[in-house]
Amino acid sequence: MRGPYDRCTMTPGDGTTGKDLGAPLGAPSDRQGPMFVVLDGIDGCGKTTQAGRLVDWLKTRDHGAEPLHLREPGSTVLGERLREMLLEPSVQIGRGTLALLFAAARRQTLEELVAPALSEGRDVVIERFHASTFAYQGGPPPLDEVGAFAEPKLLELLRGWAGAPAPTHEIVLDIDPEDSFARALAREGGGADRFESRGLEFQQRVARGMRRYVDLVPTAVLVNARGDEDEVAQGVRDAVSRAWVTGLHAGGAHGH
Ligand code: TYD
Repeated sequence: MRGPYDRCTMTPGDGTTGKDLGAPLGAPSDRQGPMFVVLDGIDGCGKTTQAGRLVDWLKTRDHGAEPLHLREPGSTVLGERLREMLLEPSVQIGRGTLALLFAAARRQTLEELVAPALSEGRDVVIERFHASTFAYQGGPPPLDEVGAFAEPKLLELLRGWAGAPAPTHEIVLDIDPEDSFARALAREGGGADRFESRGLEFQQRVARGMRRYVDLVPTAVLVNARGDEDEVAQGVRDAVSRAWVTGLHAGGAHGH
C-alpha cells in the first residue's frame, strides 16, 4: 500500500542531502498551497533557531497569511501538560508508552492546530515530528518482546494514528552528536531532562535513528547543520524550495 510518504517527485539532487529532489521553486511566493514543514534533529542541532528563520522567510510569501510555528512535545494545552511529564526523568514511563504518548500528543496537534491552519492557507512549521519518535523511542532492541514496536511497525503506528495532515517537507538537521550534545548541555545548564540526561552515547544512537528515518522515508531529507547559522538557514530554504511534494498540499496535507 502506498502511503503519503511515497507520493513524491524526485528529480535532480541538491547536493546537501544525498537524495534526488525536485527542481528549485525559487522564492516561496512561486508555490501554490500552504506548506507543512517539519524540522527535526537531535538535541542541540539548532532546530528552534532554524525554525524561526524559516518562519521569517515564509512570511515573505505574497498572500500575507501568518505562518504557524509549533513545537513537539507541546503547542496544545494537552501537549504542554504532557511535555512536563514526558521530559521529567522522575516519572517512570517505558519506551513503548512514550511512543504512544508522543503519537497521541501529535494527533491532537494535527487536529487542533495544523489542519485548521492549512485550510486557512497558512504555512505550518513544526519542531520535531515522526523522526523524533522513530529515533528516540525506536531502534534496537524492539520496544517490546513481540516486536510490535520494531521499526516498520513504529512507522506504521505513527502514520496510522498521526498521519494526517501529512507534512509536505520533513527536514532532519544533521550535526555531529559531539557538537550538538555540548551545545544542548550549555543551553540547558546541565542537560537534566529525560533525554539529555542520558549522555552522548544515547545521542549518537538517536542520530543514527534520524539518519535511518531519512533512509526509509523518501520525502525526508538531511540538511547539513554543521555550518554557521546563515549557511544552515540557506540549506533549509533550499530543501524547502526543492523538495516540494507534488500533490501533498492538495491531498494529504489536508487530511484526505
Ligand atoms: P526539548 O526541550 O523540546 O528539546 P529540543 O529543544 O532539542 O527540541 O525536548 C524534547 C525532547 O523530547 C527531546 O529530548 C526529544 C524528546 N522527544 C522524543 O523522545 N520523542 C518524540 O517523539 C519527540 C517529539 C520528542
